[in-house]
Amino acid sequence: MQIKIVIGTIAFMLTMMVFGYSALREPARLDRFTNAELGRSIESGAHIFANNCATCHGTDGTAQNCVDAAGNQIACQGLPLNYNGLLCGDPSQRMTDMGWKGTKAAYVLTTVSAGRGTIMPTWSEQFGGPLRQDQVRDVTNFVLNWESETLCAAPVVTFAWPEKAEDFLAGTDEIQVTEGDPARGQELFSITYGCQACHGTIDGSVPAVLGPSLANIETDGATRVEGMDALNYVYHSILYPSDFIAPECPTGPCAGPPSAMTANFGANDRMGGNPQDMADILAYVLQP
Ligand code: HEC
Ligand code: HEC
Repeated sequence: MQIKIVIGTIAFMLTMMVFGYSALREPARLDRFTNAELGRSIESGAHIFANNCATCHGTDGTAQNCVDAAGNQIACQGLPLNYNGLLCGDPSQRMTDMGWKGTKAAYVLTTVSAGRGTIMPTWSEQFGGPLRQDQVRDVTNFVLNWESETLCAAPVVTFAWPEKAEDFLAGTDEIQVTEGDPARGQELFSITYGCQACHGTIDGSVPAVLGPSLANIETDGATRVEGMDALNYVYHSILYPSDFIAPECPTGPCAGPPSAMTANFGANDRMGGNPQDMADILAYVLQP
């Protein structure tokens, strides 16, 4: 009898130990499970992005290289997504600018689900878009996965843009620019920086869609901000779009601040690393 109780007790204790051990292991198993699940989600998000988003946001999400269905390079109409302003920090710079109080994931998910403004489409079925909710989640996970140590190591804007356009054009120790070339400026305006996708052409042959037409900006620009001439106004508008919101956009009064215009043109991996681009764009935009 005694021996049975002892055996029973030992067996009970062993069982508890096995249970206890697997209970301890459970979080690790769950982690592995969620990681594999997240991996699959990101992978399927990559396909959704390539097929639905890359034409506007660029193949790598930097809005610098967009191709149409036939493989021709076109101007990127979307904002950059794969950049530190949107993805780094909690909240990120972009979330703060937009006054977003929720999480980063919710910011991306909500924008993708419901769309925004006149160009960014509505994607979720819930709002009449073409994607199921799990597909919206997958593409959101794909976008969020661009956050990395390398991406976030560089501050949002570190290039020291001089306050005044004249000082920039005259050059400083760090910046040497030659006289602006309007022909090169036109190329940068239409393709490289995608200004044309929102503003149309300067001669008006392609109408503006999202931002104001810049056809008369060489005169209008001088009337926007007290004490600022057209050159300084355009220079400032490119670097800090939200500082002053233009009155009239193609679909009514311009929204903002924050501006619907791309906010990172001055960053190091854009004009900050290629200041001559700024000089050439100014020459093109401001030609009479
Ligand atoms: C037809 C062009 C177009 C397509 C296609 C497109 N977008 Fe956009 N997207 C835009 C534009 C333009 C904006 C800026 C809208 C605004 O602020 O007015 C934007 C904004 C965004 C933003 C918010 C960025 C920010 O900084 O606030 C996210 C996130 C986004 N898009 C993700 C996607 C995803 C994911 C897809 C594919 C499922 C997609 N977009 C497809 C044009 C597009
Ligand atoms: C995603 C769309 C978009 C892109 C790309 C874009 N802009 Fe804009 N831009 C806007 C919107 C919207 C406004 C009006 C709101 C504001 O004032 O910020 C604007 C305003 C401006 C203004 C002030 C216009 C006025 O009438 O006062 C200038 C100048 C300008 N943009 C130049 C540029 C240049 C140069 C580029 C390319 C390097 C560019 N923009 C790229 C959307 C865009």
